[in-house]
Amino acid sequence: MANRKKENWGSQLGVILAVAGSAIGLGNFLRFPGQAASHGGGAFMIPYFISFLIIAIPLAWSEWSLGRAGGRRGFNSVPGIFGLASYGKKRWAYIGALGAFLPVSVSMYYLFVEAWCLAFAIQYLTGVFADLGIHLPSFLAGTNGAGFRLGSAGSYSQFFNEFAGANGNGTLYRTADLGWKFTPLLGCTIFCLFFNYYLIYRGITKGIEAFCKVAMPMLLVCSLLILVRVLTLPDPTVTPENPAGIPGHSFLDGLGFMWNPSQPGKTLWDSLADPDVWLAATSQIFFSVSVGFGLIVTYASYVRPKADIALSSLTATVSNEFCEVVLAGMIILPPAIMFLGTSGVEGNLGMFSLGFNVLPNVFEQMPFGQFFGFLFFFLLFLAAVTSSLSMVQPSVALLEEGLHFGRKRSVCLTGVFSTIGAVILCHFSSGMYALGTFDFWVGNFGLFVLATFQTFLIAWIWGTKNMQNELSVGAKIQPPACIGWVLKYISTPYLILIFIFWVWKESGTYFGEILKDPVAQIVVGFLLFSALFYVFVTHLALRRWKREGRSLTLFLDEEKETEDAAKKESVQ
Ligand code: ALA
Repeated sequence: MANRKKENWGSQLGVILAVAGSAIGLGNFLRFPGQAASHGGGAFMIPYFISFLIIAIPLAWSEWSLGRAGGRRGFNSVPGIFGLASYGKKRWAYIGALGAFLPVSVSMYYLFVEAWCLAFAIQYLTGVFADLGIHLPSFLAGTNGAGFRLGSAGSYSQFFNEFAGANGNGTLYRTADLGWKFTPLLGCTIFCLFFNYYLIYRGITKGIEAFCKVAMPMLLVCSLLILVRVLTLPDPTVTPENPAGIPGHSFLDGLGFMWNPSQPGKTLWDSLADPDVWLAATSQIFFSVSVGFGLIVTYASYVRPKADIALSSLTATVSNEFCEVVLAGMIILPPAIMFLGTSGVEGNLGMFSLGFNVLPNVFEQMPFGQFFGFLFFFLLFLAAVTSSLSMVQPSVALLEEGLHFGRKRSVCLTGVFSTIGAVILCHFSSGMYALGTFDFWVGNFGLFVLATFQTFLIAWIWGTKNMQNELSVGAKIQPPACIGWVLKYISTPYLILIFIFWVWKESGTYFGEILKDPVAQIVVGFLLFSALFYVFVTHLALRRWKREGRSLTLFLDEEKETEDAAKKESVQ
């Protein structure tokens, strides 16, 4: 067996912050508010919390258990750990290759969006939005029924489309034409790539953990400052001439827009009867808690053998929900409604339009908006980095463990894939089509497949008894005894059902049409090539482990030993 130095997290707080950092990301601050508001508001929260209880918590516990169980037996890569959990079945190790391929592929477009956040933060810091002439005069100019200059939202989307190269392929390189004086997006993308890979290169403790220990408190401080700003905002429509203000622009109206269970023309029951609402809520939980990605399995494999995982898992998951429901639920849509009204927000609830078109418009009008705009995009940048780091690590772990590459080589090779992905995304930026294609195939389809396989493996093959035993080692809390039952009979069938429904719903849109487009073909071709690469690495890893005598049947051997010991005892 080779002498690879075993890495571990430095402290329990460190691993909780790293896993919480992996979960808390763009999905919390940009995706959640729009998803909730456009799928029934308060009604969305019912399937959301049900998914939280039957998907997020059981899956997170099961992943932590499997990850640590694998790590204790010397495996950190998802293929190795899947091989162990299936008692040595090679096909499961090959399925585990998805656990390295999918996260790193998601990281490619995630890093690109991370770069947008950094570039926007820099723009706020340098006051460029105002210089671009988008600065709005008094919003009470009476240009529409509510008295708001809503037409200005168009300037933001125009600006954003230029900024992100959405107006044509290759336009991202022509920043000079735009006369911008801010850091170009390409520079930020290169910086984000290097920054992530530098931290991964420094290792689990010195890189990922050290960064998360600084970034997570900073993220909390930034969001609390924005929350205080939002909570202290007066109704912007109240003026000496109009002391009653304009209806629909108070903070409560903002909260109502986001949280009312009955929406115009739609009752609570209408929303609950709509399968789309259930699909959206479950997808949001997945994306947000980062379950089913192979991330938690990898991170948990570096947890010390006797450390608590039950409480750590719950703490990380609940922290994610706090950031999503409490913080993001308050700081995004309520101020947008206060300044722009319902008509300025409706139709702009997508992750990117909400974050990069609507919110800059809001910050522009908010007192001290430049400062709060900077805080917001810096917060997004920090949240994105802590998430993207966790997406790169599974690939690095597989290359280190399977090919015995040193950390430097593993990081460089993964970096080459990410750079190719970044070049594709930067070049084929027209209409963000390449980004959408990446997101569809790896961020949605692939993740549903991996999550379903992984849950099936843990619940039905490795066994819920093994999972519960592992969870109880060093546990500072007692997870409910029914958790294994829930994972087996509720989470697994529910995942399969949601997946079938999702394929049925999306197949018309993407499966057929997307393959006719040359950009989609380039993206899908690249993804297929990457997937084959990770399958090949898994193949080499399996051969190497066999040569080195590293057994994937350790669980079986241990179970046999326990049985033999029990038999011996009963004979005596
Ligand atoms: N969980 C990460 C997010 O919410 C991926 O963005």
